[in-house]
Amino acid sequence: MTELPPPGNAPHQDVPPSHRGPEHEEPPAFARELWNTRVGFILAAVGSAVGLGNMWRFPYYTAEHGGAAFVALYILLTFALGIPLLLAEMTVGRRTRLSPIGALRSAAGRAWVPMGYLFVAAGFLILAFYSVIAGWVTRYAVGIIFTGFPDDPGAYFTAISSGTEAIGFHLFFMTLTIAIVMGGVEKGIERASLIMMPTLLILVGGLAVWAATLAGSGEGYRFYLTPDIEEIFSLDTFSAAVSQAAFSLSLGMGAMLTFASYLSRQESLPREGTVIAFSDFGVAFAAGLVVFPVIAALGLQDAVGESTVGALFIALPGAFDAMGGLAGRIVGSLFFLALLIGAITSAISLLEVVTSSVIDEFGWPRKKAAVTTGIVIAIFGLWPALDLDALGAYDELTGKVMLPLGALGIAIVVGWVMKNPIGELVIGSSERMRTFFTGWLWMLRVVAPILLGLVLWTTVPDAVQAIGGLFR
Ligand code: TRP
Repeated sequence: MTELPPPGNAPHQDVPPSHRGPEHEEPPAFARELWNTRVGFILAAVGSAVGLGNMWRFPYYTAEHGGAAFVALYILLTFALGIPLLLAEMTVGRRTRLSPIGALRSAAGRAWVPMGYLFVAAGFLILAFYSVIAGWVTRYAVGIIFTGFPDDPGAYFTAISSGTEAIGFHLFFMTLTIAIVMGGVEKGIERASLIMMPTLLILVGGLAVWAATLAGSGEGYRFYLTPDIEEIFSLDTFSAAVSQAAFSLSLGMGAMLTFASYLSRQESLPREGTVIAFSDFGVAFAAGLVVFPVIAALGLQDAVGESTVGALFIALPGAFDAMGGLAGRIVGSLFFLALLIGAITSAISLLEVVTSSVIDEFGWPRKKAAVTTGIVIAIFGLWPALDLDALGAYDELTGKVMLPLGALGIAIVVGWVMKNPIGELVIGSSERMRTFFTGWLWMLRVVAPILLGLVLWTTVPDAVQAIGGLFR
């Protein structure tokens, strides 16, 4: 047992007396790694949140679900659901200073341990297919720099998305992820985020400014920012917006929980949570400001909503290519580079959930834990790297079932089970905020279960079908 008691003033639930530390003592310094700086934590958390979800899924969902109507709904749900759930995960993580399995055991009791396993399983499966997509991104970034654009983007995508090449780039990407996580919280994850996140922000910001100069960009903005009001009232749109609000903030599988477990007891969680949520939305919105003008400049709007991969891997390279010459090539490779950075910083946090769980539960040293879990995940990624339907099924199962279920569980744990969750939010914030915090608790108790229940109601049948289809 390497499980540590929550320190100081935290209530001890379900921790056997023999494992309880003296009430007044902080755990020894070597007990848990910590972020070196507050900025390091924020960038790592933003890095987890910002990823393929922002630059690929968000524009695609927006195109499919009524443009600005979807964007408005998504903003609303980020406040009503995303931020409350983010704070809930952070509360459990910092209170217990443990990775998901131990954290739930300590904050909510043994009955909730299976949910910790659900989190770890979700991290496992998401990373397995996320890494395959990240492999394509790597392939595109490298290919565009060295050999230029493919003549037939559709055929090219088919050729590289499954098979030997897909496996090769998937394994390469996993190796990179493992290498960073092996380095530890401060020397691996924090250091990588400090370099990569500012680079990504500059790239996306620069690309958005550049896209404004394109002829026809106005058409793109119109498509992006004109609401199709009818869409707001469809259950499908609603459920897509709810799941995007949770997916984009990396919620429902303990990633933010784990990152917050390395956070010192001085920072204000509401303040950090707000910064993280706004940055995440900002990058998604800016990605839309790149994608829509680029696509519209070539009249390719309809291609975006057609398939989940269409926008990014087929329409965009085609659009960059049509710009011609060096400019298209430079801008195109910068776009895929930004995407790759986003994917790496998200993949790190996915692997960290699994790795830190193994460290905490089995007492393994970090390097051994990171390499072993990384290799097993890489093996699980072979199937989606060989078969696009399998990739789709991993995506459906995690995004539509496991994450909403995990988010529902966290809402219930913090809303109804855990002792004094508000005590964790008041640290570092002013007394005046207390009313807000009570409101937060009721969002978790009532609003979140209703919204997530509704999502599960619409998504579970889809997911069952996608998975069933694999075995037919
Ligand atoms: N938030 C990531 C993105 O937008 C994807 C993601 C979903 C994720 N759940 C996660 C990343 C959990 C890390 C951990 O691309």
